[in-house]
Amino acid sequence: MRIAVIGVGHVGLVSAAAFARWGHDVVGLDDDAAKVATLRDGRAWFHEPGLQELLDEVVAAGRLTFTGDPTEAIPGAAAVFACVGTPPNEDGSPNLAYLEAVARTVAEHATGDVVLVEKSTVPASTGRRLEQVIVREQARLGSTHRIEVASNPEFLREGSAVEDTLHPDRIVYGTSSDAARDVLRAVYAPVVAADGCPVVETDVATSELIKHASNAFLATRISFINAVARICEQVGADVQVVADGMGHDPRIGRAFLSAGLGYGGSCFPKDVDAFAHLARAVGVPFRLLDEVRAINVAQRDHVLDKLRQELWHLDGKTVTLLGAAFKPGTDDLREAPAVHLARALLAVGARVRAFDPVAHVAIAAEVPGVEPHDDVHAALHEAHAAVVCTEWDEVVALSPEDYLRALAYPIVIDGRNAHDPAPMLAAGVRYHSVGRAAAPREVG
Ligand code: UDX
Repeated sequence: MRIAVIGVGHVGLVSAAAFARWGHDVVGLDDDAAKVATLRDGRAWFHEPGLQELLDEVVAAGRLTFTGDPTEAIPGAAAVFACVGTPPNEDGSPNLAYLEAVARTVAEHATGDVVLVEKSTVPASTGRRLEQVIVREQARLGSTHRIEVASNPEFLREGSAVEDTLHPDRIVYGTSSDAARDVLRAVYAPVVAADGCPVVETDVATSELIKHASNAFLATRISFINAVARICEQVGADVQVVADGMGHDPRIGRAFLSAGLGYGGSCFPKDVDAFAHLARAVGVPFRLLDEVRAINVAQRDHVLDKLRQELWHLDGKTVTLLGAAFKPGTDDLREAPAVHLARALLAVGARVRAFDPVAHVAIAAEVPGVEPHDDVHAALHEAHAAVVCTEWDEVVALSPEDYLRALAYPIVIDGRNAHDPAPMLAAGVRYHSVGRAAAPREVG
């Protein structure tokens, strides 16, 4: 099948490469000329494990090409996947202007019947809006091809996006006709045959809701355990053991119950806000989600409180952020707790260094004033405190002696519970983590 993928970002590029691996003939379309040029050179423009190898394979096989020209991508495609960004507006609603532009492009360039598939996370009812745009554009252009809108949310995680896409735990698509459903069936037939993963075939609005509800639910689990962690700190309990104890109940499970600095990334923060916004817009306010967000923000502020408790004034102090990316295995800084902390620390006059194996230069560009480091020991040298923001291997491997040797004051705020508290405290590190009983004695 011939497939066009519009928007070759984290979702679009990985999806396009997977479609090509499954034997389809795929064109990636993007209006960012620099990205297209890099991809035409055969290089992925962002870091994602396994992506470069997959691109090498499918590009060499001639099944994936890239262009900035819609006339090279849309004509002849049976399915067009919209993977463009939906950045948040001021009020938390997603900006759907790029998606609308995709609908116009498809209406203009389709040369036969085509299914326009939303892969970007969009509010339920976006499908109807896109149909409206297409109908108007086709009337204007005198086009009579059947263009149907379908929803096919992705559930890939950054850092394991290739694996998640090639071996999905479920495939969800919503369509409004048998013809569109058959196109989606054909797209995924190879992976369903090979992997036997469950397929949920439904209508467009239900498919959109599955994505909203899944991400909001996962974010809720993280905020739930972070709220429990704060209580653990007050009553002398250990949140990791609490989560283990809860997780043995198969109705609960252990996943997404790791307390820490909270969720970041391009999805959860935006999706929680977008779902809350949608709920308000349809007259059913989902106040739980407002609280999920508030707890997430409070986790970062809590780190600043701990730093103040240890260092008193932060003005003039040097703080090393260990990890910049929103989680290990990615160079993505979107909504990364480290970025928020860096801004907050600089605003109160602290000097900020950031170690990250892949995103050190990017955070210095994103937050002017941050000193980038790709060597963890150099980053710690003579700093007054360290804050673990991302559990990269290089950070997890740091021993109490590493901290004691390098830091001016041996203060470590572990925002990801990356270390074992007992050896840290026994060695004399002033070690604080999230929701774990063991903490250093008051100074003096
Ligand atoms: C997420 C969803 O998992 C994925 O299904 C969806 O398609 C996109 O959004 P991603 O943003 O790549 O994927 O990251 P994920 O691994 O889910 O982690 C999100 C954030 O939550 C990270 O900042 C991570 O550090 C944090 N997290 C995760 C916790 O704080 N605690 C946990 O227990 C799990």
